[in-house]
Amino acid sequence: MSRTRTAILAAVALVAGTAGAAVAAIPPDADVAAIPCTVDYKVQNQWDSGFTAAVTVTNNSAAKSSWAVKWSYAGNQKVTSGWNAKLSQSGTAVTAANESYNGTLGTGSSVSFGFNGTYSGSNALPTTFTLDGVTCNVDDGGSGPGPTDPPGPGTKVDNPYAGAKVYVNPEWKAKATAETGGSRIANQPTGVWLDRIAAINGVNGGMGLRAHLDAALAQKGSDQLVVQLVIYNLPGRDCAALASNGELGPTEIDKYRTQYIDPIAAILADTKYAGLRIVTTVEIDSLPNLVTNVSPRATATANCDTMKANGNYVKGVGYALNKLGDVPNVYNYVDAGHHGWLGWDDNFAPSAALFKEAATAEGATVADVHGFIVNTANYSALKENHFTINDSVNGASVRTSKWIDWNRYVDEQSYAQAMRTQLVSIGFPSGIGMLIDTSRNGWGGTARPTGPGATTNVDTYVDGGRYDRRIHLGNWCNQSGAGLGERPQASPATGIDAYVWMKPPGESDGSSTAIPNDEGKGFDRMCDPTYTGNPRNNNNMSGALPNAPLSGHWFSAQFQELMKNAYPAL
Ligand code: GLC
Repeated sequence: MSRTRTAILAAVALVAGTAGAAVAAIPPDADVAAIPCTVDYKVQNQWDSGFTAAVTVTNNSAAKSSWAVKWSYAGNQKVTSGWNAKLSQSGTAVTAANESYNGTLGTGSSVSFGFNGTYSGSNALPTTFTLDGVTCNVDDGGSGPGPTDPPGPGTKVDNPYAGAKVYVNPEWKAKATAETGGSRIANQPTGVWLDRIAAINGVNGGMGLRAHLDAALAQKGSDQLVVQLVIYNLPGRDCAALASNGELGPTEIDKYRTQYIDPIAAILADTKYAGLRIVTTVEIDSLPNLVTNVSPRATATANCDTMKANGNYVKGVGYALNKLGDVPNVYNYVDAGHHGWLGWDDNFAPSAALFKEAATAEGATVADVHGFIVNTANYSALKENHFTINDSVNGASVRTSKWIDWNRYVDEQSYAQAMRTQLVSIGFPSGIGMLIDTSRNGWGGTARPTGPGATTNVDTYVDGGRYDRRIHLGNWCNQSGAGLGERPQASPATGIDAYVWMKPPGESDGSSTAIPNDEGKGFDRMCDPTYTGNPRNNNNMSGALPNAPLSGHWFSAQFQELMKNAYPAL
């Protein structure tokens, strides 16, 4: 199967040749167990009309006593002489067969050969290689030999969403269906939030983790299916806000480890669930707070200073990645904020560095990270089409506008792609993919701009053209005017594994007045429509809808508005 082919070819195409050397290689995070063979084709030396290449073949299938590797050139390359293999060429097709002395190729063994060739124009790398007729460097979806065997248990694929259905949470579906017009979206997949220890067994008689996984198996049938879990219970949770404070105090890291992560990991490791692709999004809104909302910044909060000093966010994320990453069919995606938070130069690289620190804490390694998720439960527009970051008005860059305020990005997709590149550059696997939460960033309806703003000045230009109609980019609670965004879909753009609805539309971000509760939730005035703001939204009005219930609780009026302002429209 060619599930990962695009990603692998893209990775090959991205490897730039330096000093005449070019390499075609599989991405380091590719699931080698499911790749029947790999071919590493390196141009070692190149001059204006000729080149020397070295090829290493690794056999991951049954042992062989003879072998033949084949590829085709897109250009006019001609193999002239080789060593350690019998090379022949017919048109653009090359065959390299074993010599009498190196025909034995055991499972997991490699053999190398080389050759000289001629070319003119460009010496483009071959993109597809076969070993005895089986395509190499491509995850065949299986754990054993053969190009077409079905995915076996414990097999990780490059993009879990590709070719897979996604779990529809029956509890969310029931709430959506009960709303007028809600059946139009009730079958969309949404995230299952494990937002407290009790959620593992089910809160107030609701579905626990096993109940969700059992329902997922039923939905899966003989197809592939992704289950989306949100790991969200760090000590001192939501340190820059109050609405989603949690049950664990700042120092309760041991409780987090033993009563929250360990039991979740144990359930996910049950072989009964080995055929599911379990996506875990790890700790929304945690690590970015340690970059942007700590002293000496004006945006600092005492709680974020505490969490930075005690290290429990970093430890908790590392522990979760390590334990969950040990489960062969779990795909960890770490929260990476959104462009309206980390898109400034002061925040961007330091956040990526902190993600790496957490991904290498408590026994975790970068290999435990399958990707990152952005815009979770936020409202940042996916793509602003009426201006780019490079535009100027009357000689002034749009970066000087009040809305953009020197940010490097104008929308979520460009941010996600750039963050991905940054993360790979500091050592995350080149195969990592991004998820974008598009549950509430549609900004459609009658107020959606249909063209660029007036070119009077940068502010009229940006404000008149932008889809995101928040009062300020830092507003995050129950935003008035928001709509459902792109429907969940796999592989929508380069580097993006999927658009997802991780935040279930209709669930409140926080109460607009104080409501006593036993969930640890506080009252954050960013959810109060009369609030005039704080340094984190540059002292603007909150833009929140009135009459909102506690965070996570059903908010019918918001659900209706999200449907009304959906983009694409329902
Ligand atoms: C908020 C709430 C949490 C809920 C989640 C999804 O973060 O604090 O309890 O599960 O939103 O709606």
